[in-house]
Amino acid sequence: MTFDRSIKIAPSILSADFANFGAEIRAIEAQGADWVHVDVMDGHFVPNLTFGPPAVAAFRPHVKTVMDVHLMIAPVDPYIEAFARAGADIITAHVEAGPHIHRTLQAIRAAGCKAGVSLNPGTPVEAIENVIDIVDLVLVMSVNPGFGGQSFIESQVEKVARVRQLVGDRPVHIEVDGGITPVTAPKVVAAGADVLVAGSAVFKGGSVDRPEIYGANIRAIREAAEAARRG
Ligand code: DX5
Ligand code: ZN
Repeated sequence: MTFDRSIKIAPSILSADFANFGAEIRAIEAQGADWVHVDVMDGHFVPNLTFGPPAVAAFRPHVKTVMDVHLMIAPVDPYIEAFARAGADIITAHVEAGPHIHRTLQAIRAAGCKAGVSLNPGTPVEAIENVIDIVDLVLVMSVNPGFGGQSFIESQVEKVARVRQLVGDRPVHIEVDGGITPVTAPKVVAAGADVLVAGSAVFKGGSVDRPEIYGANIRAIREAAEAARRG
């Protein structure tokens, strides 16, 4: 993975057909997805349960782009090795998930993955100031994590701008996750985001039999985001 700030659309397979992940992943990539976002939930850090390492390993051969694994679990450290072995390119952990985020991020890099740190909507940017030099990505949650299809929390746009300032010249991606649509994408891109996670806005109306709808949905988000870059 080489670093750049081009806009990347990362569909969340939380909104895919759970009986057909391989075909869904192939369909979104064929339709223009830049990364594939995998939401791991533990029913404890967030009130929902999704995939463990064996499921993520099963997705891996279908992902030709970048497998972006978002861990909404606590604790994190006992599972890093397993998600790295499952083939994650990026592993993102929440700063709220435990007392030792610095150790967690070091462990993610030591396992051979890019390290991301995520902030819940109620967590201030200061919480990551002391780890900004050891991360490859900052994920700003624009909904409270746990479910797809929630409404975008407007106050997070300002947070994205603060993260952008903190990042400065560092090669650190700024990703936003939750309620991203062609309406909200331009706001976060104007504030400095480069990676846009979208679940419902990518999958809505489409299916593996009608993948061109995924393509149109991805294009609509990308075009709105790129227009915001041009200003
Ligand atoms: C929320 C997840 C998101 C979610 C986004 O806990 O981290 O990735 O799938 O879904 P939408 O785009 O529908 O808000
Ligand atoms: Zn996510």
